[in-house]
Amino acid sequence: MTRILILGNGYIGKRCAEAWKEKAILAPKKIASAADALALLEEYKPDAVLNAAGVKGKPNVDWCETHQPETLFGNVAVPLFLAFACHQKNTYLLHIGSGCVFYGDSPDPLGWKEDDFANPSAVYSQSKYAADLLLKNFPNVGIARIRMPMDFIPSPGNIIDKLASYSQVIDVENSITVVEDMVEVFYTLLEKKASGIFHVVNPGTIKHREILAYYKKYVDPSHNCTWISEDALVKQGLAAKKRSTNKLQSLNLEKLDISMRPVHIAVQDTMQRYALLKKR
Ligand SMILES: NC(=O)c1ccc[n+]([C@@H]2O[C@H](COP(=O)([O-])OP(=O)(O)OC[C@H]3O[C@@H](n4cnc5c(N)ncnc54)[C@H](OP(=O)(O)O)[C@@H]3O)[C@@H](O)[C@H]2O)c1
Repeated sequence: MTRILILGNGYIGKRCAEAWKEKAILAPKKIASAADALALLEEYKPDAVLNAAGVKGKPNVDWCETHQPETLFGNVAVPLFLAFACHQKNTYLLHIGSGCVFYGDSPDPLGWKEDDFANPSAVYSQSKYAADLLLKNFPNVGIARIRMPMDFIPSPGNIIDKLASYSQVIDVENSITVVEDMVEVFYTLLEKKASGIFHVVNPGTIKHREILAYYKKYVDPSHNCTWISEDALVKQGLAAKKRSTNKLQSLNLEKLDISMRPVHIAVQDTMQRYALLKKR
């Protein structure tokens, strides 16, 4: 059994800890230095570490535009402290990256590849990409990029809850990550101590319009919203910066024979189970 230490007591960290039960422990403290990271490893002596700590802004990512030092510290310095400590202790680190480092159409029509040069625009996305560029050079580190996590468990971090709460929604098409599949892929990567970058997204793409159609079908037939363009989001002052929209390929997961369910199958299954929990 691989004993995993999880740093980051937030949405994804807690969700992984709940899924992995006795195989994982959530670090009870924050780290602010390389010495803190080393002390954590010496205390828990894990087989592998999941870095689920990060700064994504509250109430949303626009916060990072006006809090750049805090964003860079949490998303670049802290992952580096962990990577150095894990290197010193010969411990594998899986760092959670973000697919939002890519904006728009990919050079390959099939989607952005793991090693494509990214084009991040927002400060949050830039900080996530900066960490990727540094961490990918450590032999004992894997980077798992996720996008718009969707879960059957209602939560403010769940893309279902987010989209359902907006009165105006942009009509975009994306790769997304179904959390149930993600926790399994993360665990496999941690067991295999797989290095490199991985796009942990379900094969295929889905439009916000399709997600909300499933929501209307399975959860709330009375749900309604207005559809707006990506440009209108910024023009109307609903967001400070344009959000990333993209399609990702998962070539490195394929090489390891790791697969996730096709996106529409996984989303429909997730939405039906989400509906059951909502009705309780
Ligand atoms: N959720 C998404 O939509 C999404 C999408 C793509 C990528 N990601 C990435 O996934 C990771 C986890 O995201 P999440 O959704 O779980 O975010 P979250 O709910 O905000 O959780 C992040 C956690 O990290 C903690 N943290 C911040 N700095 C820390 C430090 N120095 N030491 C230890 N803990 C620290 C935060 O604590 P405080 O809140 O007390 O500061 C928070 O509990 C992040 O790297 C994020 O960039 C998330």
